[in-house]
Amino acid sequence: MVKAGLEDIVAASSSICDVNGTEGRLIYCGYDISDLADNSTFEEVVYLLWYGRLPTKTELETLTKGLQANRRIPEDVVKAMKAYPKDALPMEVLRTAVSMLSMYDKEAEDKGREPNVRKAIRLTAQIPTIVAYWDLIRNGKEVVAPKEDCSLSHNFLYMLSGGKEPDAVAVRSLDIALILHADHELNASTFAARVAAATETDIYSAITAAIGTLKGPLHGGANQEVIKMLLEIGSLANVEPHLEKMFAEHKKVMGFGHRVYKTTDPRAANLRRMSEALGKQMGDTKWFDMSAKIEEIVKADKGLNANVDFYSASVYYMLGIPTDLYTPIFAISRMSGWAAHVLEQYANNRLIRPRADYTGERNLKYVAIDKR
Ligand code: COA
Repeated sequence: MVKAGLEDIVAASSSICDVNGTEGRLIYCGYDISDLADNSTFEEVVYLLWYGRLPTKTELETLTKGLQANRRIPEDVVKAMKAYPKDALPMEVLRTAVSMLSMYDKEAEDKGREPNVRKAIRLTAQIPTIVAYWDLIRNGKEVVAPKEDCSLSHNFLYMLSGGKEPDAVAVRSLDIALILHADHELNASTFAARVAAATETDIYSAITAAIGTLKGPLHGGANQEVIKMLLEIGSLANVEPHLEKMFAEHKKVMGFGHRVYKTTDPRAANLRRMSEALGKQMGDTKWFDMSAKIEEIVKADKGLNANVDFYSASVYYMLGIPTDLYTPIFAISRMSGWAAHVLEQYANNRLIRPRADYTGERNLKYVAIDKR
């Protein structure tokens, strides 16, 4: 019997990330996600995922410099983006622009770990620029050159605001969110990336496939649906009636449920604390209070736990990030995990080619079109 959705099927051996769905634990290369969220930085986590261990000071400096020096995107890509329809979805733009980048990378077709790490550095550095530039372009604003003396999170917020220095709390909050979203074993987009990489196609093709897959509302697109729901609900008092209506209409509550976690998603637990802390800091806990109430009701009524997308929505909203950039921000972070998996796949590759359980007809005889 085929289990729909490859549920519980182990499709690869990997030393990058372990998701323990019964204990609600998530580990990157041996380190608990909460430990990393408390003590690490996104850049350090990128190193960890790509090299399987924490870097020395020099190693981290080298990678950070690489990520800083490669933030600019080719002028032709900026020009092309300026010609896109202004109502194009940020995820459509990201998918298309990333695909375009390969044509401007002389190493695009080069094989081997070294060139692929260099390409992964460029992609990780350039994806935030594409996302921020699209927001500026669609709003008729001038793009600003990326800063090269700061973290990826700092520079992203700087570019997104059109060149204003972000405050330290916003930078650290985004950095923690990026750490928490960086990898998640064989989630749909990472699996898509590995399937592509296993054909020995280039890393740009693999990442383009992953971005298209992340876009779906059952995957990375869920965080945008969560904020839509929060805005629709609008007030704490409206949470209960709104959810009752959703339950009566058998609608899914986005940001809840998970294929692997049957208990609290550890990423959600971290983001929940952040959402509460940010609300308190800003003197308005409305979005956190509403989220907490929704969580309580959905847990009690449906037995479902909040996933990573649920509390990231209120966090990004409080940081003032446009709501349709939530999934692209997920991509900014997950780029690191995709690259880690693509590198791992290339290093020990075999074509991924499963079978289907054929349920169609057999032995039919061709009937000429005028006889049908
Ligand atoms: N709201 C309401 N009911 C939900 C639900 C949700 N968010 N998630 C799952 N369920 C219900 C399903 O309707 C199903 O009920 P049934 O057995 O009565 O038909 C049951 O729980 C099992 O769900 P299923 O869709 O089979 O789980 P899955 O493993 O295939 O899907 C998700 C996992 C994540 C796709 C699913 O939980 C979902 O769609 N969640 C909302 C989208 C989301 O937040 N995605 C981000 C994931 S990180």
